[in-house]
Amino acid sequence: MTTETPKHITVIGAGAMGSQIAMVCALAGYDTDVVDIAQDAVDRAETQLHERMDRDVAKQRRTAEDVAAAFERLTFTTDRDGCAAQADVVIEAAVEDLGIKRKLFAELDRICPEHTILVTNSSNIVSSRVADATGRPEKVCNFHFFNPALVMQCVEVVPHVGTSRKTVDTALELARSLGKQPVELKKEVPGFVANRLLGALRTEALKLYEDGVADFEDIDIAAKTALRHPMGPFELMDLVGIDVVHLIRLAEYEQTGDPASLPARSIREKYEAGEYGRKTGKGWYDYS
Ligand SMILES: NC(=O)c1ccc[n+]([C@@H]2O[C@H](COP(=O)([O-])OP(=O)(O)OC[C@H]3O[C@@H](n4cnc5c(N)ncnc54)[C@H](O)[C@@H]3O)[C@@H](O)[C@H]2O)c1
Repeated sequence: MTTETPKHITVIGAGAMGSQIAMVCALAGYDTDVVDIAQDAVDRAETQLHERMDRDVAKQRRTAEDVAAAFERLTFTTDRDGCAAQADVVIEAAVEDLGIKRKLFAELDRICPEHTILVTNSSNIVSSRVADATGRPEKVCNFHFFNPALVMQCVEVVPHVGTSRKTVDTALELARSLGKQPVELKKEVPGFVANRLLGALRTEALKLYEDGVADFEDIDIAAKTALRHPMGPFELMDLVGIDVVHLIRLAEYEQTGDPASLPARSIREKYEAGEYGRKTGKGWYDYS
C-alpha cells in the first residue's frame, strides 16, 4: 500500500446513494457515519438498510454476523460536524445542487482534520467546481458510485487538474478495499466514462427512432439480442426516469454550451407530458 489507510468515513446525505454507500463502507470494515440534515431521511435510511440486509441474510448473500458487525460500525446521525471532525475521508452524496455542495465543501474544509480527503459522488458536478471552495483542492476529487451502490461494482475516480497523485491513489485503494472495481479517469469530462458510453448509445437509439428507422421496441430487441445488453435503451430510460434523462441533458448543456447536448425532441415531449417512465406508469412503455 502506497498511501495512508483511512479508518473513519463520513458519508454526507442519507438518500438513495448515501445510505447504500455508507453500508458498503461499514460492511468493508470502516467506522462509518451517515449524516443528513433531515432526521426523517436518517430514519428512513436506517429502516431501509435493515430491511435490505435482512433480505440479503435470508437469501444467504451475507451472514447475520457480518451484517450485525457492520451495523455496529455504522452511525446514523444529523451531527455532521461531530462526525466530520473524526473523518479520514468524507464522501459527499447530498442533493445534486452546486450551491449546496460548495457550501458543504467550504464548511467541511473548516471542520475536518488537515489530512482528510473530501470526495463527491456527484454524477454531473465535476470536483473542480467544489474544490475551489476549500483550502485543500489537492485532496478533492469525484468518487462516483453507481445505483444501487450495494450491488454495482464500478466506482469512477475522477481527479481535477489540481488533485494530487496521492489523493487519486488513496481513492483507488479505498474503492478496491470496498470490494469495488475502480476506473481511473485522467481528467474531468462531463458524464465521466460509463454514463458517456450510455449517453452515446441513448443518443443513437433516439436518433434511429426519431428518423423513423425502427420502432423503439425493435431497437430495444436489437440491443438485447445482438449486443447482449440486459435491457434496451428505451426500457432503461423508463427505469431511470425520463425526467432524470431530461435533467442530465440540461446539466450537460449548461457545462458544454453545445446544442447537441440538449434533450432529444422525443424526450422533451415525454417530459412535458409528464410521462417519466415506470414512476408515472407511462414512459416509452405503458405500465398501467
Ligand atoms: N441516484 C442515482 O442514480 C445517482 C447515481 C450516482 C451518483 N448520484 C449522485 O449522488 C448524489 C445524491 O443523489 P441521491 O440520488 O442519493 O439523492 P437523494 O435525493 O436520494 O438524497 C440526497 C440527500 O441529501 C440530503 N441533503 C441535502 N442537503 C444536505 C446537506 N446540506 N447536508 C446533508 N444532507 C443533505 C437530503 O436530505 C437527501 O436525504 C447526487 O450528487 C447525485 O448526482 C446519484
